[in-house]
Amino acid sequence: MKAGLVSALAALAACGEAATTPKVTPRDELAYSPPFYPSPWMDGFAEGVEYMYAKAREIVAEMSIPEKVNLTTGVGWQGERCVGNTGSVPRLGLRGLCLQDGPAGIRFTDYNSVYPSGQLTAATWDRVLINKRARAMGFEAKGKGIDILLAPVAGPIGRIPTGGRNWEGFSPDPYLTGVAMAESAMGIRGAGVIACAKHFVGNEQERFRQAGEAQRFGHDISESMSSNIDDKTMHELYMWPFADVIRAGIGAIMCSYQQVNNSYGCHNSKLMNNLLKDELGFQGFIVSDWQAQHNGVSSALAGLDMTMPGDTTFNSGLSFWGANLTLAVLNGTVPAWRLDDMALRILTAMFNTNLGPDQLPDINFSSWTLDTDGPVHFVANENFEVINQHVSVQEDNANLIREIAAKGTVLLKNEGALPLKKPKFLAVIGEDAGPNPKGPNGCADRGCNEGTLGMSWGSGTANFPYLITPDFALQAQALKDGTRYESILSNWENSATRNLVKQDNATAIVFVNANSGEGYIAVEDNQGDRANLTLWNGGDELIKNVSSICPNTIVVIHSTGPVLVTDWYDSPNITAILWAGVPGQESGNAIADVLYGRVNPAGRTPFTWGPTEESYGTKLLAKPNNGKDAPQDDFTEGVFIDYRHFDRISEEDPDSAPIYEFGFGLSYTTFEYSDLKIQRNDIGEYKPTEGETLEAPILSNFSTDLADYVFPDDVRRIEQFIYPYLTTAESAEEASGDLNYGQKPDEFLPPGATDGSPQPRLRSGGQPGGNPLLWDAIFTVTATITNTGDIDGEEVAQLYVSLGGEDEPVRVLRGFDRLSIPAGESVTFEADLTRRDLSNWDVVLQDWVITEHEKTVWVGSSSRKLLLKGTLDFAAGPEPEQPEEETPEPETPEEEAPEEEYPDEETPEEEGEE
Ligand code: NOJ
Repeated sequence: MKAGLVSALAALAACGEAATTPKVTPRDELAYSPPFYPSPWMDGFAEGVEYMYAKAREIVAEMSIPEKVNLTTGVGWQGERCVGNTGSVPRLGLRGLCLQDGPAGIRFTDYNSVYPSGQLTAATWDRVLINKRARAMGFEAKGKGIDILLAPVAGPIGRIPTGGRNWEGFSPDPYLTGVAMAESAMGIRGAGVIACAKHFVGNEQERFRQAGEAQRFGHDISESMSSNIDDKTMHELYMWPFADVIRAGIGAIMCSYQQVNNSYGCHNSKLMNNLLKDELGFQGFIVSDWQAQHNGVSSALAGLDMTMPGDTTFNSGLSFWGANLTLAVLNGTVPAWRLDDMALRILTAMFNTNLGPDQLPDINFSSWTLDTDGPVHFVANENFEVINQHVSVQEDNANLIREIAAKGTVLLKNEGALPLKKPKFLAVIGEDAGPNPKGPNGCADRGCNEGTLGMSWGSGTANFPYLITPDFALQAQALKDGTRYESILSNWENSATRNLVKQDNATAIVFVNANSGEGYIAVEDNQGDRANLTLWNGGDELIKNVSSICPNTIVVIHSTGPVLVTDWYDSPNITAILWAGVPGQESGNAIADVLYGRVNPAGRTPFTWGPTEESYGTKLLAKPNNGKDAPQDDFTEGVFIDYRHFDRISEEDPDSAPIYEFGFGLSYTTFEYSDLKIQRNDIGEYKPTEGETLEAPILSNFSTDLADYVFPDDVRRIEQFIYPYLTTAESAEEASGDLNYGQKPDEFLPPGATDGSPQPRLRSGGQPGGNPLLWDAIFTVTATITNTGDIDGEEVAQLYVSLGGEDEPVRVLRGFDRLSIPAGESVTFEADLTRRDLSNWDVVLQDWVITEHEKTVWVGSSSRKLLLKGTLDFAAGPEPEQPEEETPEPETPEEEAPEEEYPDEETPEEEGEE
């Protein structure tokens, strides 16, 4: 993309915009989010919380209203050391909780690691690596004193290929993202840190996500955009990964900035009360995105449990909650059981993660400065002490980071150029191979695009401890091999580049990139989202120039999603193409591992590479389309994003066929697929969940005398800090000192919002993740995969299913495994198909239903290399039980035989032992 040209176009577009201000659509014609009340209270018997709920309940029963409010309300932006800090409960020895970004490493600290992006990690299709990455990040967070890590990300899922934050998440496929979310949640929790899945839901583009931010970029809107999503699409696509992460026991979920069906994400009772807490049985707490709360009572009743950073807008010193929540409980607009439920959810998540009051680690960093000494209360400039202890938490995570980055790298094309074997002469070309002249952390929140792309921009960033550039690693390898090595770390040195790559024996590796990030930063003309799908800094011209001269040109792409390769990918002079995503600190080492064959590539693209931007069928809502009111983004494509869209249209329009399809990637060896078997398992019928909940528990009585809640004399007031105490006992209207909560409950509360009586259970609900019978494995599919080459390799076998019926995707991913297969050997691929995998969401019944349409399964190496095919036979009974094989005699003498050699029931009981 040429920056100048894009600015000129943007200016033209802006003129056009002013001339034709769009009409405002009447409110009753807009997409509508139905109310759902009351807010579901915790189910103390639900799987995963049954033990810690009781402990939390005992404690909450003893807590005062201000103590409970303190758990729910942040102390204000930069009020303490973390990106978000709750109030404390000194009586219980509970310091304020520390919430910190982010999804690819700890934000704002030092001596931490920078991991490959979620997107590149998804490209490994390796559950174990995904889990290990999250666990390692969790331990780094723990080592810094963080209690809640603001990761992983499934929203955006990647509806729009130019979406700014797609790299923070995993893949536009909900199954792959769901697996990655669940593994990440378990990994983070395994390290003793609460994971926070974000952003629920529909935050698919950065532009217009927050009206204020959009105004700063010159967009004249007064409300944030609305993502208008229908019920089927919500269930089958956007909610799907959240169901997985809830089932995996995640402790927290962050609601999103923008509106869904014209109700703000953090006030939306349909999203929070109905979908998350009732249907998906979420027993953790919902925390707002930073400043995504726009009022107090309605967000509490709609299901929000924690507000961040706690002030109404950054540093206003006012809060929608804090004292206002205390007052709202006292005057009955928020029922006491709702506040109790918020506190119960937070404490249960803590206890479930071994974070009791005496187990919280010391916070040893400050987000707001890397200076050693400084103020604990940064914005108030108070409490000076050592605030950065510069604790190294990196351990040996560099090895894992390098492994993930190499194993996620996707080999898109290889005409025999790779792996490199001591090439005679290596010419490395492009800015993206070298360092940022300002240093790896030279741009705040990585808000620039200079040097190699190791980390994109926004809140999902971390400070590099170092950054191995491709130039550094490849030169080191060249020196070892006796290879002549020259690099030109610029995209604009045309004649020097031509003179270099035209020389005989040149293997040219061109490094190019395309970057994006979060909406509060614009880099060139990319306001978070990418302005287009082309490479940055003249990358396309660079590739074309080099490959027009050098017959052995290898292209490496670092990017936050697909780029257009249409103009050059099939040039015979381009002998290999690799996608290396956003790789983190070990970038150069990882790409060298793949280029030189130390890692045999098995990354598979987690998104489709279309021929044009239009071919994706979804695009950014670029201009306000509803006057100054909330821009309306109708998700009219339904579930047809990414490969589902390409599969649907490419039969009619072959020109729109992807260049590289979802799931595609090459290896240095070859594989064969054979012997598909589909086994029907013996499982019971689906039973809708029935019955009623218990009533909302009343845990304690409390005084309604305002005087009991006035700011205590012995508490020191810190400037701009948010407290739970009232300023006066004289008048309820003024008691909170800021916003007016004088209305009477029945004047504005939604019907049913304060009703604590038993509520009917939803048929699709029942346990965390939904009706537990949805996870019954109806079929087990197996196939044999053989490595037919002469080097060891890894293959990602993929299972696709067509659910059948009109207006349904041609096929959807429903299983995968990354298999390690030595040369010449075979392994068995196995995947279960659960009831949920085979169901569609029935919008009338409000439940998952297996339709009568024939269901085909394929096992293959990508969404279009479907090598084995079969049909699911629901009528078939389960396989007859095989007669049990005799236990083979252990080869070792009996007394030395390890215990595991005996099936459990046959382990001989030792006399005298219990
Ligand atoms: C806003 C971002 O949307 C969110 O992802 C992040 O966790 C918070 N800011 C805190 O930095």
